[in-house]
Amino acid sequence: MEFSYLGLSHLETVLEIERESNPFPWTEINFRDCLDKGYYSLAFEEGDILIGFAIMAISSEESHLLNIGIKESRRGEGLGEKLLKKMILAAEVMGSKKIILEVRVSNNVAYSLYEKLGFEEIGIRKNYYRLPKGREDAFVMSKSLKKDILSHFFFSKS
Ligand SMILES: CC(C)(COP(=O)(O)OP(=O)(O)OC[C@H]1O[C@@H](n2cnc3c(N)ncnc32)[C@H](O)[C@@H]1OP(=O)(O)O)[C@@H](O)C(=O)NCCC(=O)NCCS
Repeated sequence: MEFSYLGLSHLETVLEIERESNPFPWTEINFRDCLDKGYYSLAFEEGDILIGFAIMAISSEESHLLNIGIKESRRGEGLGEKLLKKMILAAEVMGSKKIILEVRVSNNVAYSLYEKLGFEEIGIRKNYYRLPKGREDAFVMSKSLKKDILSHFFFSKS
């Protein structure tokens, strides 16, 4: 399994994963928009087959995990955990103080993964997610990150 940056060539498979993951999936425009904005986006591949992806807006104060998905047939093998750990490390290396995310209140699997990796529930956003009919609340979760993991590279006296 290998990581690379997510690019336009991955979009078709990303959309397939997204459609099998969400009742109201992101569209191609949503993904293109994230790539255009330069969000930190990883592809998780086996050979040249995309197994998963994750997208995060990284900033020094607070990074925001925007999406993560593993191909349905490959879930439950520890791959989502590996991918999320990479995203956490990236935010830490960039000096981010914390990561926040939203998760559907019905998404027990993702909630359990986030909890396992140290995210804590900090609130609820009412009617945050669209459904084919109606809306669903989101839990907001947050994880504080190790401080200044590589800050000496960026800020040490020259
Ligand atoms: C959420 C998701 C990324 C997890 O990836 P995964 O590869 O299936 O998860 P892993 O095999 O790495 O499991 C890691 C942890 O997730 C949780 N988990 C995984 N499968 C689970 C299941 N069927 N039931 C409950 N918890 C589960 C557990 O905490 C697990 O740790 P454990 O193995 O020590 O119990 C994946 O299920 C997915 O793509 N879901 C659809 C998209 C989605 O919901 N994204 C999150 C949007 S907020």
